[in-house]
Amino acid sequence: MKTEELYSGKAKTIYKTENPNELISEFRDSLTAFDGKKKSEATNKGYYNAQISRKIFEMLEEEGIKTHYLGMVSGNEMLVKKVDIILIEVIPRNIAAGSITRKYPIEEGTVFKEPVLVFDYKSDEFGDPMINDDVAVAMGVATREEIDFIRSMALKINDILKGYLESNGFLLPDFKLEFGRVDGEIVLADEISCDTCRFWDVETGESMDKDLFRFDKGDLSKAYEKVARRLVPDIFEE
Ligand code: C5P
Repeated sequence: MKTEELYSGKAKTIYKTENPNELISEFRDSLTAFDGKKKSEATNKGYYNAQISRKIFEMLEEEGIKTHYLGMVSGNEMLVKKVDIILIEVIPRNIAAGSITRKYPIEEGTVFKEPVLVFDYKSDEFGDPMINDDVAVAMGVATREEIDFIRSMALKINDILKGYLESNGFLLPDFKLEFGRVDGEIVLADEISCDTCRFWDVETGESMDKDLFRFDKGDLSKAYEKVARRLVPDIFEE
């Protein structure tokens, strides 16, 4: 059970538990974008994201990917392994969208022949700048071996997730991964949800993710519910 609050981020609050090796990650309804400059709340967002993330972690574990996921404590609270987070946001990109289309002459919707892997330094102070292996190693954020491992793990996760989502009617233009060290190995951490992925409906091309909030494109709670209905239909059964 939760003991004291360890850390409150933009969309999740992390609590200590009686077990020093386990934490509880509470998915909240609060929403932020553009480095916290834009803020709001969306009904049931925390619940849908927690359930979608749970399902994706379970599916990845079945495919042999190690994650920090241990189980659910409640609808929007996840029990996770305590890990030492590696300060690199790993972003696999399959279709051009978002920042890559603003920073480079790449048109939105361009389908990449092979996944493009982008590394950002996870730092609010520095505004999450893009980094490469050498910069990450020079800063001491990770070793070269760790980065190589993370790269291959991210590509494997991308492959699995892309196929899984396509079979559920979504394109996966891009998403963000975080990794952590625990018991001498690297595991997938944080969350994989509508807040951290771009999901496009395969039929209509509509965004069903946080872009709805970033760019005022529609009703976020309704879209997250639609994603949840496809990925975690069990939670809607009476
Ligand atoms: O903003 P950008 O286009 O680089 O985002 C790429 C992907 O990574 C998007 O799916 C976005 O939701 C996710 N992301 C994230 N957290 C960040 C930055 C990006 O979840 N801090």
